[in-house]
Amino acid sequence: MSNPAHQTADITQAVLGRLAEEPDPRFKQIITTVVKHAHAAIRELDLKPDEWMAAIQFLTKVGQTCDEKRQEFILLSDTLGISMLVVQLDQARRSQAALADKTATVKPTEATVQGPFYWEGAPVLPLGSDIGKGMPGEAAWYSGNVTDTHGKPIANCCLDVWSGDGEGVYDMQMGADAGMRLRARFHTDSEGRYHFWSIKPTYYPVPADGPVGDMLRAMGRHPNRPGHIHMMVYRDGYVPLTTHLFAEDSPYLDSDAVFGVRDSLVVHYERHAAGKAPDGRVMDKPFHTAQYHFVLAPA
Ligand code: BEZ
Ligand code: FE
Repeated sequence: MSNPAHQTADITQAVLGRLAEEPDPRFKQIITTVVKHAHAAIRELDLKPDEWMAAIQFLTKVGQTCDEKRQEFILLSDTLGISMLVVQLDQARRSQAALADKTATVKPTEATVQGPFYWEGAPVLPLGSDIGKGMPGEAAWYSGNVTDTHGKPIANCCLDVWSGDGEGVYDMQMGADAGMRLRARFHTDSEGRYHFWSIKPTYYPVPADGPVGDMLRAMGRHPNRPGHIHMMVYRDGYVPLTTHLFAEDSPYLDSDAVFGVRDSLVVHYERHAAGKAPDGRVMDKPFHTAQYHFVLAPA
């Protein structure tokens, strides 16, 4: 006869039972849900021991691929759509009041993934500066404004922008000694407006030479992200926004490797022949202009 004190027929219940004394309710809720779903998936799949071992070996490799510069677990989360799901839930929670406000005239700008190439402390530059000078890629003039959800301009709002170059390469990928490039912090003027020069970014692959790349290939997926420029838009009193603008004519808009594209973030880059630019500068090569209105929710 088995002793019911030592063994519970349902392993799931046995594991959950050991959490009975857990004092942190959120921790308890998270572990309970993870255990329930993991056990249910294994039952549904009738998972074989060699399949479970393959999963363990895969996760081991993911860990072994991480170092100070590379975070393969985040890449795994990104490419499985988990990062984007967490971003969406977070924005919905933090912007709840703004979304429910019947008097609001505009919705907060949609957030998307931060990605691994944010570098804190980008130079603070005056509006109109050119951060794309001498970089591979065609010049682009970015302009627009930042308002709240009632259309009120947000002055002195920081736009912390970064992107890869016109060949899809970020400064952080250029070796240990490479300094910052194609990144800066701008602040909106008294009417909430911003404008600066950079380049029109192109599509590029997420790192695909590790286990996540193997997983993408096994799934028959490509590793590419459509061309985009990143920005964090923030000012005290508002829910900070981390987002991108995507180039309307970029390949991979429909199949972003990290599921970050939102229709509302796709912008038209108007291509102009060499000549006079919006700031009066005379361009000796073709250039682009792109506009965007950012909207922040009150905190
Ligand atoms: C990026 O856009 O920089 C990025 C996002 C997720 C994974 C890799 C790169
Ligand atoms: Fe990026």
